[in-house]
Amino acid sequence: MTSNDNDGMPTFSDSEKNGHGDEHSTFRICCIGAGYVGGPTCAIIASKCPHIKVTVVDVSADRIAAWNSDHLPLFEPGLEDIIKKIRNRNLFFSTDTKKAIQEADLIFISVNTPTKSYGFGNGRAPDLRYVEEAARQIAHTATSNKIVVEKSTVPVNAAESIKTILKTNKQPGVCYQVLSNPEFLAEGSAIRDLLAPDRVLIGGDESIDGELAIKKLSWVYEHWIPKERILTTNTWSSELSKLVANAFLAQRISSINTISAVCEATGASVSEVAKAVGLDSRIGNQFLHASVGFGGSCFQKDVYNLIYLAESLKLEPVAQYWLQVIKINDWQRERFAHMIVQNLFGSVSGKKIAILGFAFKKDTADTRESSSIYVCRYLLAEGASLHIYDPKVPVQRIFL
Ligand code: NAI
Repeated sequence: MTSNDNDGMPTFSDSEKNGHGDEHSTFRICCIGAGYVGGPTCAIIASKCPHIKVTVVDVSADRIAAWNSDHLPLFEPGLEDIIKKIRNRNLFFSTDTKKAIQEADLIFISVNTPTKSYGFGNGRAPDLRYVEEAARQIAHTATSNKIVVEKSTVPVNAAESIKTILKTNKQPGVCYQVLSNPEFLAEGSAIRDLLAPDRVLIGGDESIDGELAIKKLSWVYEHWIPKERILTTNTWSSELSKLVANAFLAQRISSINTISAVCEATGASVSEVAKAVGLDSRIGNQFLHASVGFGGSCFQKDVYNLIYLAESLKLEPVAQYWLQVIKINDWQRERFAHMIVQNLFGSVSGKKIAILGFAFKKDTADTRESSSIYVCRYLLAEGASLHIYDPKVPVQRIFL
């Protein structure tokens, strides 16, 4: 890459000449954040691109130590075998963020973006402090041009904030291109999703340099993903698409859960209704299973993210519409716990109840926003004695 200062943006034409468009050159990727997204995503990139060096860094020394041990920090079917084959070959886990940033051509920001729990937007807005901190670290550390990729789920316009942070704090002569490349994997099937995604979405600037950066990231994915599945858009469309995808998935769950209540009151069977409805090809049969409600770190937070966006845009009916998705989810959890109490003759006080499963779904140890937590809280408040078992979740995490 050249160090031409093109309004803070790099020109990539020289990097092409220098051979980064050539599969056999040494291309380096750094991923900031070794979590549920950063770890598995980089494992797949490194396994499919043996000539690319991929380093995943994290502020948590414990998490990095676990990635470098026989006990990975998270469970994902198929992940362990892949990691064992490529760890310390072209996949590295490290706490040396400075070194990884400096040597990288492309940097993924894959840090957590929880819902804010303080100040303006408390309980609604996404907390972008970890994304901002990662951007600052890059700006203070990088001594050569970088493509910075927001992999974390962020609100629309976050790329602009990242650009501003990079531009304001950058070392002299260093230029950046910022891309949006949201991740659509689902925990429990992350490896399958990463190997054969429905689509890869890349958003970037509609400029020559923006297009070159998109081409570079696309080149990484093209090692194993057919080109027609790689969708390129402008940055805002890409950022918004991720929120909308999660909001639509959450909405399907809330929709079928409302119908489960109607079925219980009428004698209809929700699985029969779901099957009949799902066979309509315009509707499809995915995400039509009635349940205790959605959990996990993403759906609720991303729906709130969309609600906050609508509120900020003064689109109150839109905000209210999506808020119902969350309200129905809360109601379904409470309704489920209430049903247990009712079926145990109106009281669970002093009764022993077994809870099988504490993670938010099967094939993961992740308990973030798990519906089990909410149901357990209701039952404990009613005086029940709970015996909780989940083969994937350690006892300490249940007591958190
Ligand atoms: P996570 O909480 O598992 O991992 C984030 C990691 O980033 C943590 O280990 C944390 O220590 C680290 N970190 C934070 N600031 C850092 C910094 N400045 N330098 C180095 N490390 C830092 O989060 P997860 O689940 O991987 O999610 C990451 C992003 O991906 C979020 O925005 C999430 O919404 C999105 N996402 C998550 C999916 C999931 O299934 N978990 C699926 C698709 C997107």
